[in-house]
Amino acid sequence: MHNNRSNGHPSSPTSKRDQVDTLSHSHRQHHHRQPINSAPCYYESRKRKHIEQDQEPDSTHSNIRQHRRSLTPVPSPSQCDDYLLKRRRHSSQQDKSTAGYSQQHTSSYMDHNSKQRYVLVTGGAGYIGSHTVLELLNADYSIVVMDNLVNANLEALARVEYLTGKSIYFVEGDITCEKDLEKVFQAFHFWAVIHFAAIKAVGESTQIPLEYYHNNVTGSLHLFRVMNRYKVKNLVFSSSATVYGEPDMMPVNETASLGPVTNPYGRTKLFVEEMLRDVCASDPDWNVCLLRFFNPVGAHPSGLMGECPQGIPNNLLPYVIRVLQGHLPCVQIFGSDYDTVDGTGVRDYIHVCDLATGHVAALKRLEGEESEGKRGVRSASSSPSPTPQPSSSTTTATSSIESSPLPSSTRSSSLRQGGHCMAYNLGTGVGYSVLEIISAMEKATQKTIPYKIVERRQGDVGVCTADATLANLELGWKPLYSMDDMCRDMWRWTRRNPNGYDGPLIDDDD
Ligand SMILES: NC(=O)c1ccc[n+]([C@@H]2O[C@H](COP(=O)([O-])OP(=O)(O)OC[C@H]3O[C@@H](n4cnc5c(N)ncnc54)[C@H](O)[C@@H]3O)[C@@H](O)[C@H]2O)c1
Repeated sequence: MHNNRSNGHPSSPTSKRDQVDTLSHSHRQHHHRQPINSAPCYYESRKRKHIEQDQEPDSTHSNIRQHRRSLTPVPSPSQCDDYLLKRRRHSSQQDKSTAGYSQQHTSSYMDHNSKQRYVLVTGGAGYIGSHTVLELLNADYSIVVMDNLVNANLEALARVEYLTGKSIYFVEGDITCEKDLEKVFQAFHFWAVIHFAAIKAVGESTQIPLEYYHNNVTGSLHLFRVMNRYKVKNLVFSSSATVYGEPDMMPVNETASLGPVTNPYGRTKLFVEEMLRDVCASDPDWNVCLLRFFNPVGAHPSGLMGECPQGIPNNLLPYVIRVLQGHLPCVQIFGSDYDTVDGTGVRDYIHVCDLATGHVAALKRLEGEESEGKRGVRSASSSPSPTPQPSSSTTTATSSIESSPLPSSTRSSSLRQGGHCMAYNLGTGVGYSVLEIISAMEKATQKTIPYKIVERRQGDVGVCTADATLANLELGWKPLYSMDDMCRDMWRWTRRNPNGYDGPLIDDDD
C-alpha cells in the first residue's frame, strides 16, 4: 500500500483561510470548476422540492414531510469562520433568487426527455455516501442524493459542494416509501444507483430487528422494484464483510462461504445480496456490484468531512476518538489471548476516501458492462473491456483506479447466467491489532489513550482481513491511505469539528 499525498488535498494547511483558499484554488485548477455561487445548490433543490410538495395535497402520505421536521439546521452563519461566511454569502444570494431560481430550473429538473444521465445515491448524505459523492463529482458524474436524514446532516453535502465547486440535487425522501422513490425516478433520468441507505448499528439491530429488516430489506426491495420499473438496472450495493460470518479462510476472498451471520444487521446485508443474486439470475439486463466493506475509518484530509456517530460508537476508532475527547473513560479491549501479534484482535481498516474511489471504480466497471451489453458482446468469453481511465478532471485520489485488463479466467468466476452480479472486497489486506491502533492513534494525537483489557466477546474472531485482489484486478482499484493517514485525518476532523456537523468549524492549524 502506498501513500500518495500529492492529490490536491492539503497535507498541512497553515491556516483555515489558507486551507479553504487552497482547496478551492486547487480544485479550480484541476477541475475547471464553476464559481460556487453560480452552481445550483442542493439547498435550492430542497426548497424546490418543498415548494412542489406544498402544492401537492396528496403528498401528505409521504414520509418526506415527516422527516423534514427533524431536519438538522445548517449551522448558522454566526458560528462562522471563513468557510461558513462563504457558505452564508452563497446561501443568501441563492435565497434572494429562490423564486426565479426554482422557475428557471424546474423545467430542466423535470425534463423527462433530458439527455442528462444521473446517478442516484441513496443514503448519500451519510458518512461513506458523502465522501463517495465528492469523488463522483470529481469524476464528473451528475449526482442526485436521496436521503431521509435519519443519520445525516445536510451540512455534509454543503461541504461536498464547497470542496468540489459542483452542485448536488438533494431529495429528502425515504426508500421504504415507494411513492418517494417514484417521484425521484419520474424527475430524473438515471443510468445507475449507488445504494448506501441503511441503518447500521449492530447492537441496536438485536433490539429492534423488525426496524432493521423494514428499513434495510424492505427499503431495498422497494428501490429495486422501482429501478426495475424504470429500467434502471445498474447498481452498486454497500454490503459488508459481516456477510462472511466466521470466515472459513483468512485473508477472506469472495469465494468464501457466506454466513451464518450472527446479528440482524448483518443478515439484512446478506438478504439483500441474495435478493440481488436472484434478480440478476432472472434478468440479463441487471449489472450489480456488491461491495463488501471491511472497517471504514478516517475522514476527508481537509478536516471538513467525517463521521458523526450517534451515541456510543460500535467501532474501535470512533470509540477511541470519544475517549480522546474525554466523553468516555477508556477503551475496552475484548480479549488479549488471540493468536495474533500481541494477543488482541486484528482487523482490516480502510480509509473512507479509498472506499469512495472504490465506488467510482465499480461505477466505471458498470459503465463498461453497459456498453458491452449494448454491443451485444456480453459473455464469459468476451474480451474484457479496460476500466475507463479517470477523466482529466479527477483528483489524484481517484487515480487509485487504474486501467487493468482483466484475465478472462478471473472474470468468468464472477459471471452468472443472466445478469452480472459481482462481489468485491474493499479492504487493504493489512491487519492491525487493537493495541497497534491505539499506538497509531497516540502517535497521531500525541496523547496517551487509557485502555483496559476485558473478556473476549462472543462471536468475535481473532483476525479478519480482506483479500482484495479481485477488486484490484477487475476494478483496477487499490487503496492509497495508510493507518497513519487514517488516524491523522480522523483526528484533524475531530479537532476541527468537535461536535460534528452540528457545531462550529474550528480553526485548527496542525
Ligand atoms: N460504516 C461502516 O462501518 C460500514 C461497514 C460496512 C457496510 N456499511 C454500509 O455502508 C452504507 C453506508 O454506511 P455509513 O457508515 O455511511 O452509514 P450512515 O448512517 O452514515 O449512512 C447511511 C445513510 O442512509 C440514510 N438512510 C437510512 N435509512 C434510510 C431510508 N430508509 N431512506 C433514505 N435514507 C436512509 C441515513 O440518513 C444516512 O445518511 C450502509 O449501507 C452500511 O450498512 C457501513
